[in-house]
Amino acid sequence: MVDLRTQWLGLELPTPIVVASSPISDDVDALHSLERAGAGAVVMRSLFEEQLVEEQMAAHRYFDGNVDTDAEARTMLPDSQVFSLGPDAYVVKIRRAKSALGIPVIGSLNGTTPGGWTELAGALEAAGADAIELNLYDLATSLSEDSSDVEARQLEVVRGVCAAVRIPVSVKLSPFYSSIPFFANKLRGAGARGAVLFNRFYQPDIDLDALDVVRNVRFSTHHELPLRLHGLALLSGRVDLELAASGGVHSGDDAVKCLLSGATVVQLASVLLERGPDAMRSIVESMATRLDAMGYAQAGHARGVLALDKAPDPHAWERLQYVRTLQGWRPRRGGKWG
Ligand SMILES: Cc1cc2nc3c(=O)[nH]c(=O)nc-3n(C[C@H](O)[C@H](O)[C@H](O)COP(=O)(O)O)c2cc1C
Repeated sequence: MVDLRTQWLGLELPTPIVVASSPISDDVDALHSLERAGAGAVVMRSLFEEQLVEEQMAAHRYFDGNVDTDAEARTMLPDSQVFSLGPDAYVVKIRRAKSALGIPVIGSLNGTTPGGWTELAGALEAAGADAIELNLYDLATSLSEDSSDVEARQLEVVRGVCAAVRIPVSVKLSPFYSSIPFFANKLRGAGARGAVLFNRFYQPDIDLDALDVVRNVRFSTHHELPLRLHGLALLSGRVDLELAASGGVHSGDDAVKCLLSGATVVQLASVLLERGPDAMRSIVESMATRLDAMGYAQAGHARGVLALDKAPDPHAWERLQYVRTLQGWRPRRGGKWG
């Protein structure tokens, strides 16, 4: 049987399938079931910069206090109760998870502005976190901050967190950079050891009857996977970072595709929230079966086999695939245009 043991950021994981940052981490029993079902590590839900910076908390309280006069604001802005879990409670959760689990526990920080809050990474380390995942969930809204300013600000946040701890740090990225390879390469210089591809964006919809903004968390589907596979393939073997996939993994075959594209570990959130620990077990088992059938003795041997570092000129290769895909399209025979 294929050996699934994997090293992620220098940590020993029994399997490459990781519980992604989500409210699952609030329930230690659930984490324990996921460990028994084959999880290799867990990422805690995020501690947000907004929870740590008093002025930002005050701003959220202010918005909350004024929501009755502005329906759009009410649905667009987070309730301050959402942020009730402060740093002390967060540290307790990490300690509990650490004492209940044998697999690595990864703390998650989520923020976008450099400042003293990044030092709280040290408190997560002191509570026993084996690594930190820093989520740079950042939507550019300013007309005066250009893309290099945005990236410089984000790199300063990464440097702040990395300087505060001795444990390894990975950075969860958005897919929206002019050059993902350029930015990823800079992350290494800022002290990060890994990159998690990618954040999902929770775009609000519009309710036309209520003339209001609707804010829902929609679970992912496997249609979100190809964007991740592409990002992984683009970076694998070309930047000095370990890579994690996050987004759209719903089956063992999805996980194998991530490994082949260059992921060291594969994170799951939606499929676990929808289907529980059984989904973890079936994904780990079917991934192992598929790798075995492909002739791999170790999961790590599949890593990056289909990555773009094998292409002599990735830019030309990308253009060629794009042109081929569009030029190769033909109407279906017997269809509306055939
Ligand atoms: C309900 C919910 C809560 C989440 N909370 C966090 C969070 O606190 N921090 C974070 O970095 N990602 C968070 N995520 C994003 C997941 O970690 C993951 O990156 C994303 O859902 C894509 O993976 P999936 O397709 O397996 O769901 C959350 C996702 C969901 C569905």
